Amino acid sequence: MTQNTDPADDANKRPKSRGGKGLHRRKFLGGMAGIGLGAVAAAGATFGLLTEAERKASAATNTGALPIPDLLEGTTTDGTTTFTLEAKGGTSEVLKGVTSTTAGYNGSFLGPTMKWTSGDKVLLNITNSLTEETTVHFHGAHVPPSMDGGPQNAFAAGGTWAPTFTVLDEAKTLWYHPHALGTTAKQATHGLAGMIIVEDDSPASAALPSDYGVDDIPLVFQCLAVSAAGDIKYDQTGYLTSGLKYPVLVNGANVDDTTLTFNATKTRNRFRALNASPSDIITIKRSDGGKLTQIATDQGYLTAPTGVDSIRLVAGARAEFVMDVTDDVTLQVVITTGWIRGGSGTYDFLSVAAGGSDTPDDLPGSLNTIERYDTTDFTARTITLSNTGTSMKINGSSGLTMASMAMISTTLGAKEIWTITNASQLEHSFHLHDVPYQLVSINGAAPTGVDLGWFDTYEVVGGGSIKIAMEFTDFADDSYMYMLHCHLLQHEDEGMMASLMVTDG
Ligand code: C2O
Ligand code: CU
Ligand code: CU
Repeated sequence: MTQNTDPADDANKRPKSRGGKGLHRRKFLGGMAGIGLGAVAAAGATFGLLTEAERKASAATNTGALPIPDLLEGTTTDGTTTFTLEAKGGTSEVLKGVTSTTAGYNGSFLGPTMKWTSGDKVLLNITNSLTEETTVHFHGAHVPPSMDGGPQNAFAAGGTWAPTFTVLDEAKTLWYHPHALGTTAKQATHGLAGMIIVEDDSPASAALPSDYGVDDIPLVFQCLAVSAAGDIKYDQTGYLTSGLKYPVLVNGANVDDTTLTFNATKTRNRFRALNASPSDIITIKRSDGGKLTQIATDQGYLTAPTGVDSIRLVAGARAEFVMDVTDDVTLQVVITTGWIRGGSGTYDFLSVAAGGSDTPDDLPGSLNTIERYDTTDFTARTITLSNTGTSMKINGSSGLTMASMAMISTTLGAKEIWTITNASQLEHSFHLHDVPYQLVSINGAAPTGVDLGWFDTYEVVGGGSIKIAMEFTDFADDSYMYMLHCHLLQHEDEGMMASLMVTDG
């Protein structure tokens, strides 16, 4: 991690940086919204909520600079850009003053941000220095199934894996994380996650801020569950431990009682938000009630910059927004539980201190062209998400192994419309590898606004359903499969995963 400012240039000493000071950091809304398993909810309710005294203590004012993950730019030789990643163990302070055993890529917690350029050939040299097998999945990237980093790509401790492919994606924000069967929640919650920025030469990209860490700012959110001793919990058994704490981290920094500061040096700033949480939903907004200008969803630019009151991201999802900062602005994140937490809350996580003296041009009126699918002739399928206790299923099968999961078979060029039905009362986050999808309906209603963008991860509320449409382009294979699954990491590890085989037909 590097800081965006010199430590000597402390936010407290700068007159412009008062935005977050003195505010109550954390407002508990109470309630256990969204929890479906009764026994789990009851257990959570007995130990999770803060007492009034604890609440007051947590209101202490802390500040710190927003850490910015290092930028990993590849080295290019003979037309191939090579990135080197090492997954390894380490320690980090997930709770202030408490050392946790963690893991990271090229560091002790989280990973560097990779920059890929659309059209480039990339090679990733990945070393597994963990003590168990892992994979690195490129979440949201349109790559061959043998290079996708799904469970079939798992490689042993001490081993290496070197996927290579041409970046077909346009400008967007992706991320990378482990994906071996049964260990994704454990490895990702311990810190194995990083952002990927895809750049392209579109007019929209040219018009938007793109100076990493200066006016193009990554925000990696993680809502974790940790024992008071700092032991990160990631499964059903762990969540039933008493006395858990639920830290919220942004770029690895705890924002429970701290408003981080970003000292803007440009008026216009672009933020890329990634919800890397195992289960919780995050909603980002301005503390002053002003609008955010959203420019992208998971899978790239919206047709036009869109003013929104807030941005809601289910686990695994991303969004980009821009703010013209002429006065200090405080950003808030509202945490809504997707599983078990002691209570949902609102955190003033970032004070953006105005510092730019430039006057940016108006944002382009058009960012992208998105042709809406006419799904009349699309092949229809139904994907049902259900569970029996903690056995999580897709189309009736619990995908704990490659052999036990349901398999969807399709052919290259197929155009399909899927109804994703949540037959449970649990919250799910539906993620599809390989290709982006359009939303056709959300709980029976036609999408509007930013929901008209491209997605790879979308919320399916308990008892709800979404209809999505997609086209299987470019890649076919008869042994490697893509995955489709719930992105609540416990759920995928408990079997809510199916495979997708795209063959030549
Ligand atoms: Cu982000 Cu299949 O995963
Ligand atoms: Cu993925
Ligand atoms: Cu789920």
